[in-house]
Amino acid sequence: MYIQFWVYFIYDKRLHEKEMVGLTYAMIGTWRMAYEGLAKALTDLQNGGSSNDAVETAIKEVEDYPFFKSVGYGGLPNAQGLVEMDSAFMDGDTFAIGAVAGISDIKNPISVARKLSHEHFNSFLVGTGATQYAMANAFEARNMLTERARKIWAKRLREISEKNLSPYDGHDTVGVISLDQNNSMAVGTSTSGLFMKKPGRTGDSALSGNGFYVDSEIGGAAATGLGEDLMKGCLSYEIVRLMGTGLTPQQACDQAVYPFVDKLKQRYGKAGEFSLVALNNQGEWGIATNVEFTFAVGTEKQETQVYMANPGPQHTTLIKPVSREWLTAYAKRIKAPID
Ligand code: GLY
Repeated sequence: MYIQFWVYFIYDKRLHEKEMVGLTYAMIGTWRMAYEGLAKALTDLQNGGSSNDAVETAIKEVEDYPFFKSVGYGGLPNAQGLVEMDSAFMDGDTFAIGAVAGISDIKNPISVARKLSHEHFNSFLVGTGATQYAMANAFEARNMLTERARKIWAKRLREISEKNLSPYDGHDTVGVISLDQNNSMAVGTSTSGLFMKKPGRTGDSALSGNGFYVDSEIGGAAATGLGEDLMKGCLSYEIVRLMGTGLTPQQACDQAVYPFVDKLKQRYGKAGEFSLVALNNQGEWGIATNVEFTFAVGTEKQETQVYMANPGPQHTTLIKPVSREWLTAYAKRIKAPID
């Protein structure tokens, strides 16, 4: 009788919390490129799908689209012309994590990372070990270097020698966080990493606490931007920790990211560009960024929408929906011919 009372009490409390907030599922993803994948995965969540599946579905969509030049097929290669990819998957119920770094010739690194999350040992594989594991486990192989990406790489090589330009550019990870109708959460990341990186270089995206973190009892966070600097702050974990103290995702993002950017500039002398997204287990979300940054979000109540964020005054974030003109210009820009 006593136990039954507490079971009812806890059950009722969860229902009540859900009624108060009025949300049962939600997803957020970094950059405009997350939009289509999110829209597809949110339909699955609406039909009772799991966060784990939703994250994989959304990220595969991005990995498969050839005109996103920082993730999967069509991603820009390293200095030697090889597309080396990093990806991670985390289950917020169990804390299970799988990750790959420097994997090549595999169509969907996120699926490999998810499978590795079922392993207790050997759950984070790098380089040829990661590629061999994927091949041995029948993940689809693919040459990930598109002709378009090869042309961009060759052009950059010319620019480096002719104009003495910095080789490094483009480190836009897709990071996706999901909340499903069972209150389970998951997070995933995928990227081809820093354009023109040295072979073997990896960033934050496959590293727990840096590129991603999720706890279904609190919420999740994911990062995009210069991995070398993101790794100095462990910002995804810090955002989840702050949400666990009762802060909203927006307060947690603002409080974790902006003071760290200041500290990095003071003590390291500079801070690369980076942005973080967060979602809590009530379906509320937040963003912090030190650069103009787009992201996509959708919930039970809110159609999937692309927003633009910018750093605001006094450690705040300015957020507005992107305009139709911006979306049109974006679609044109990512397909513009390479001369
Ligand atoms: N954030 C992705 C990278 O630095 O590779």
